[in-house]
Amino acid sequence: MTMSFREVVHPAGWQSGHAAACKAVYAGSIPTSASKPWSPIHMATKSFHFVDDYRELVRDMIARYPLAEAMSRAVGGHLTAVGQIEKRLLIGYGLKPEHTLVDVGCGPGRLAKQLIGYFTSGRVLATDVVPEFVDYARIGCPANWQFAVVEDTRIPFAKDEADFASFFSVFTHLLYEESFSYLIEARRVVKPGGFIVFSFLEFEHNWQIFKDTVKAVRQRRPIVHLNMFIGRDAIEQWARRLGMSIIDIRTASDPFVELVEPVIYDDGKRSEDKVAFEQSVCVLRNDKVQHERRVLWDSFWESSPSPTDSQ
Ligand SMILES: C[S@@+](CC[C@H](N)C(=O)[O-])C[C@H]1O[C@@H](n2cnc3c(N)ncnc32)[C@H](O)[C@@H]1O
Repeated sequence: MTMSFREVVHPAGWQSGHAAACKAVYAGSIPTSASKPWSPIHMATKSFHFVDDYRELVRDMIARYPLAEAMSRAVGGHLTAVGQIEKRLLIGYGLKPEHTLVDVGCGPGRLAKQLIGYFTSGRVLATDVVPEFVDYARIGCPANWQFAVVEDTRIPFAKDEADFASFFSVFTHLLYEESFSYLIEARRVVKPGGFIVFSFLEFEHNWQIFKDTVKAVRQRRPIVHLNMFIGRDAIEQWARRLGMSIIDIRTASDPFVELVEPVIYDDGKRSEDKVAFEQSVCVLRNDKVQHERRVLWDSFWESSPSPTDSQ
């Protein structure tokens, strides 16, 4: 297995929004300087960590490299190879040429571009927090596919619009509450019986990422973005509370993705037949109709203000 889906290693001297935010938090829980007194208004203008972190990362890459290379580097490289693997992974779970896929955190359109030749009446509805990614992702895609910039955990598409929602290497950079908020949104936009696929990090299988992050912390190097690990107990609770069934969980090293043609990596290596994803993968089925009938759905999630307007 030669696939490599490494997280971005930050260059020396990198200063991220997250790093700056951490500094403020470590220095004291609430900023106290006379020039910037704490106020709810001040807090309301703060961006989410992922917005600052990813926009800064992508803009730094664009400043250093030609655009295509910058786009690839900003999502860990191997743009085409990993896109092909993501496509085959989803097809393996039943993605059809006539389906609608919501791809959250689409990056530079790694997956969308691979689906251009596969989807017939199907389409991609994609979001990302980085405008440069969204602009790049939409290049070459059919006009009826939609690409939206978001700044929170909103999925700005209609209820029951999608057959599938994917989050490839997105929950890996979010707090648990943010990932769960996204699952509430995915529950809304995915049809009853549709699927939600997300990749995640586990300590047992992705120890090197944790180790590298600890090393950066101990060397007092700022961290480009969060690297979050998710335990299976959390996934079980989230699925239960959202009325979803866990259909499958695969570990990072499990070669479960069946390829129909070889994939070639940036370094010229190739994989064929079956490959692992190098992050764990969870597939949930959206059982919302049956679940609502059993009145188990926690109406708190609906009464709490949704980031998406009246859907
Ligand atoms: C490691 S990249 C993966 C990109 C893409 N899914 C892929 O497989 O190539 C993580 C992506 O998530 C995006 N992202 C981070 N936080 C997000 C959020 N709250 N909503 C949408 N996208 C987000 C980043 O901008 C980045 O494009």
